Amino acid sequence: MNVLGIDIGGSGIKGAPVDTEAGELLEERLRIPTPQPSSPDEVAGVVESISRHFGWTGPIGVTFPGVVVNGVIKTAANVDRSWVGVDAAHLFGGATVLNDADAAGLAEVRFGEGRDRRGTVLVLTFGTGIGSALFVDGVLVPNTELGHLELNGKEAEHHASDRAREKHDLSWEKWAERVEEYLRHVEMLFSPSLIVIGGGVSKKASKFLPHVRLDTPVVPAALQNQAGIIGAAHAAAGRMQRVH
Ligand code: BGC
Repeated sequence: MNVLGIDIGGSGIKGAPVDTEAGELLEERLRIPTPQPSSPDEVAGVVESISRHFGWTGPIGVTFPGVVVNGVIKTAANVDRSWVGVDAAHLFGGATVLNDADAAGLAEVRFGEGRDRRGTVLVLTFGTGIGSALFVDGVLVPNTELGHLELNGKEAEHHASDRAREKHDLSWEKWAERVEEYLRHVEMLFSPSLIVIGGGVSKKASKFLPHVRLDTPVVPAALQNQAGIIGAAHAAAGRMQRVH
């Protein structure tokens, strides 16, 4: 099935048509900076522009950087607070809407690094915040929000996200120490058999992953920052197949 996948992030909104069986983009993706303020109407305008750019009339899957339950936004840590309570599925014209890290995780587990893995797999995305997707035998436990775990009295994503690296001008090695400390905490809680690192930094894994030492295997996301788009489209295709 061909589905338009759109990934809403704290800094950019990216979209492309996706072949959901192959897990591949059908056209080059379009990226538009996230409007400031990132309020629902402004963001809906960008989603609409992306859809128009591709001349899209088919199904759409959209990610959101917060808790999403039945298409309704429950939290908004890194976008405008006015999102809380909004029925995003309705706002985006009946699109399938899910958490951004859950979408990236679905794509990795279906097409990328977590493929055919049983047991507990954790996909963690490092960007503006830290997102998490937890899988047990390939089944997603949605909205786990492990970026908000407390670590040394601080919220983990304030300390170890890619934005924290930039904000505090940390070297890759120094940042890797923070990432390792966070991963050790998550490892202690879940004993996963694999941790996949996604988000914008997955492209730069060779700069910091060699400095991260953990018993659990830690690998960069195979789909890198396309995972959100592919996962959003994949989730929408799954819903369409259940409906029809
Ligand atoms: C949000 C998550 C999101 C993550 C990555 C966190 O601040 O609470 O829902 O997945 O950032 O965007």
